[in-house]
Formats: sequence, C-alpha cells, structure tokens
Amino acid sequence: MAANKDSNLYKFESNQEVKEIDVSKKVRVGIIGTGWIAESHIAGYKKQPDVEVVALADLIPGKAEKFKATHGVDGATCYEGENAHLKMIEAEKLDAVSVCTYNRAHTVCTIDALKHGLDVMLEKPMCVTMEEAVAIRKAEKETGKFVSVGFQPRYDARLMQLKEIVNSGVLGKIYYIQTGAGRRHGIPTPFGTTFIEDKTAGLGALADIGCYSLDLVLSAIGYPKPLTVSGHRCDYFGKKSSYYKNPDHPEYADLFSVDDFASAYIRMEDDIILDFRIAWAMHMDTMGDHIILGTEAGIRIPADGSELIVYSDMGNNRVKTVVPKAPDLPYTPFEGKLRAFIDAVKTGGPAPIPTSEIIYNQAIISGIAESCKQGKEIVIDIPEI
Ligand SMILES: NC(=O)c1ccc[n+]([C@@H]2O[C@H](COP(=O)([O-])OP(=O)(O)OC[C@H]3O[C@@H](n4cnc5c(N)ncnc54)[C@H](O)[C@@H]3O)[C@@H](O)[C@H]2O)c1
Repeated sequence: MAANKDSNLYKFESNQEVKEIDVSKKVRVGIIGTGWIAESHIAGYKKQPDVEVVALADLIPGKAEKFKATHGVDGATCYEGENAHLKMIEAEKLDAVSVCTYNRAHTVCTIDALKHGLDVMLEKPMCVTMEEAVAIRKAEKETGKFVSVGFQPRYDARLMQLKEIVNSGVLGKIYYIQTGAGRRHGIPTPFGTTFIEDKTAGLGALADIGCYSLDLVLSAIGYPKPLTVSGHRCDYFGKKSSYYKNPDHPEYADLFSVDDFASAYIRMEDDIILDFRIAWAMHMDTMGDHIILGTEAGIRIPADGSELIVYSDMGNNRVKTVVPKAPDLPYTPFEGKLRAFIDAVKTGGPAPIPTSEIIYNQAIISGIAESCKQGKEIVIDIPEI
C-alpha cells in the first residue's frame, strides 16, 4: 500500500486491481472474541489506513484488556463478561464488527450486531445448525446490513486462478467434484479445548476445516444448490487418551465431544456429485487432491499447494497442462478478506463473501451431521429468505 499525501487517498495495488482508498473517514470496528484468530484480525486491520479498532469484547474477564496490551490497540475500550458483545455494541459508535468467537456464539453475536445497524465480518464456519444460518439470513434481510463470512482463501492467488479457469468454460459441463483435506495428527488443542467441546465448537473437523474444502470447490463453480446428502462422522482419535500424550493432555479425550473425521456423498443441482472427506487426524499422509471433472476437461488442485493441472484432449491426444503459477499478490489472503469487507462497509454492501452462498456450505455441513444421526441419506431443505 502506498500513501498519496496530497489527496488523502491510499493505493491498494495488486496484479488484479488498483484501488484508491479514501482515508478521510475511518471505519470504526469492534472485535468480539479476543482469542487466537482475533490476532489475525487486529494485525490485518492495522494495515488498513482507513480502519480504527475502537473496542474489544470477550466473555472471559481480563482477556480483552490483555489482548489490547499485547497487540497495542491504543485507545480501544474493553468489555468483558456474559454480555460483553452487547455492552460494546450499545456503548460504542461502531460501523462494523469482527465476530471471532467460537462457533456456538457466532449466531447470537452476529444477529445482535446486525440489529444494532452494524455490518459483520463473521469468522468461518458460518455457524453450527441450519436454524442458525436461516436466522442470520433473516436478520440481514430485516436490518439491511450484511454479513461476510471469513473464507480468506478466496483471496489466494492460486484459487483466484482456479475460478478464472472454471469461469472460462474450458471444463465444459461439470459433473463430479472430489474435495477434502486431512491432517496426520492435527486435532486443534494448542490453545485449549474450544475446538473439541460440543458446547463451544458444536462440530469438529467437519465444520472447522471441512468448510474450507467445500468453499474451495463450490465458490469456483458458482455454489450450486445441494439437494441430498449421505454423511458420516466419527471420533476415534479424539476420544483416545493416548492421542494426547503429546502434548500431554489425556483429559482431553473425556472432553472431546465433536468429530475428528467426516465423509459424505452429496447430490447437487445441475446433476453434479460432490465427494467429500475431512480429517483432523488419520493414519495416512494425504486425503488426495481436489479434482473437478467436466465433459471437456478436468482440473486437479493439488493438496500440496503446487500448480493447477488441466487434463483435456487435443484431437486424439491426451493433454496435460500445468498452469503457470499465479503471480504473488502484494497482500496476504487474510488482509485481502478484511480489505474487501471494509470496502463493502464503505459502499453499503454487497458482502464480498455473502451468506446467500455460504448457507449452502452450512447446509452441507449440518446435513452431514443430521444424515449421520439418522443413519441414512437425507434431503437438504434450504428455506427461501
Ligand atoms: N479464518 C481462519 O483462518 C481461522 C483460524 C482459526 C479459527 N477461526 C475461527 O475463528 C473462531 C474463533 O477461533 P479461535 O481459535 O480464535 O478460538 P478461541 O477459543 O481462541 O477464541 C474465541 C474467543 O471468543 C470468546 N467468546 C466466546 N463467546 C463470546 C461471546 N459471546 N462474547 C464475547 N467473547 C466470546 C472466548 O472467550 C474466546 O476468548 C472459530 O469460529 C474458528 O473456526 C478461523
């Protein structure tokens, strides 16, 4: 970013765009939930010349104050306790909030912010249940404010390249997608138990990293509507106390009350099949690459982050094209997502990563949990809002 002192404007440049940022009016932001991911929000907002983080709220007494001191959020007012987010929203003159709480608190904080006339940067996953997703969508409609959901890979150069290739139509009719991810030993416990307890997280690997795999392929192909899902979840690693010998927390096995693995077969509109699997821990090195098959070409999105590969025919020849690496962007994906959100706040929307798309992501995740509970394929019901 470069300053233009004469005009009070900043330039935000990339190979994709050159944007002038008007810094004459600052966007006043509050952060709800000052845990781990809030650190990335404050770091990203500090780089935006037209943003002031003026308030911080966390349930846990003293946590917001400590965050303020650690991250030098000068001048911010801190709120704590049960209704910290409401106290903050009511006392401060804010334009927007970042909701950085654990999943189970996403909905209440988001809806309260919308009802107080604020736009919301909501961390992923959108929420836990379909009822919550519908309530968020309704609150947006009633208030005229918007929610943008925090999928920063949307601002990753390689995934922008993927979308461009799909949009070019080179794949023909898309009929099959394989997506997912897997960690060898990656149940997220280094900062405590908020990811592994049902009362805070609601869902495990399925929602935590599964939502990314789903967004990666579905945003590339324009988010077709999911119709049915046959899903499965399990917790073989999370419930095993020996898993936690390193880092030495055997009691986590008793607290573990979400999933560490999920898989599903999803039918989508336009006769598209989605094959999905996700793991926080597994006895395997990789769950494989993401692939999208079309009638004219197929594309491989390697799980190791290497170049995209397109497979097609030229005459009677089977051709494999390694797509040259996309040029690096001058901002991180996380900064890209915050910048797009702030731009939307200033123009009154629309949301850069809208809930009209992400409700389909949530419908799949919640549908997998429900299908697993019922032990059969279920129809996905997404009410019109
Ligand atoms: N985009 C990303 O790269 C990314 C990475 C990690 C986590 N996340 C998401 O961010 C969210 C938070 O994750 P985290 O790792 O920071 O968790 P965390 O447990 O470290 O922090 C969450 C904080 O929210 C606070 N909180 C909960 N309910 C609250 C409420 N009603 N009002 C005020 N504060 C409240 C908790 O006290 C805690 O301090 C999760 O939904 C997670 O999926 C996103």
